[in-house]
Amino acid sequence: MKTVLLASALLLGLFGCSVALPLPVPFPYPDPYQAVCGTMWLFATPCAEISTTVAKQIQALSPEYMLISATPLAIKANHTSPDGISVQDITFSLSPTIVTGGCRVSAKSSSLGFTGLLDGGLNYCNLHKLVSASGLTLSPGYMEMTNEWACLGYGMAKC
Ligand SMILES: *[C@@H]1O[C@H](CO)[C@@H](O)[C@H](O)[C@H]1NC(C)=O
Repeated sequence: MKTVLLASALLLGLFGCSVALPLPVPFPYPDPYQAVCGTMWLFATPCAEISTTVAKQIQALSPEYMLISATPLAIKANHTSPDGISVQDITFSLSPTIVTGGCRVSAKSSSLGFTGLLDGGLNYCNLHKLVSASGLTLSPGYMEMTNEWACLGYGMAKC
């Protein structure tokens, strides 16, 4: 079931992609010395709208999340853990899916430094919290694609 979803999602992604653009690398390669979660989301909504919604949600969750910069195609932020000590870098890279008028988002959260290697889903939750709190998980065409390889702690994350 999951495989079928993933396959159709990939097809959707491919069909939505302009032939002029190189195919995006779906997931960042995890650095073995950093706790990283990479995930991809698809939306049937233009990237400008998705970007605005995510940026507003980041600001609404201040000071836990801090917005560093936001454009329709890229967002940078950071997240401070409840202990107040560990900080994670968050980046979103948005690409319009030309044919469907939607948006494909590559999101990444990574723990700075060596300490959070077994992060219990922290980096996944950093990302997921933004799409769920903003209601984007309920928006048309929403789909999340990741796995334990691309996203450390994905399997055990309880957000
Ligand atoms: C997080 O981002 C904010 C806003 O740009 C910045 O002031 C702060 O120094 C950053 N924190 C860390 C630990 O990088």
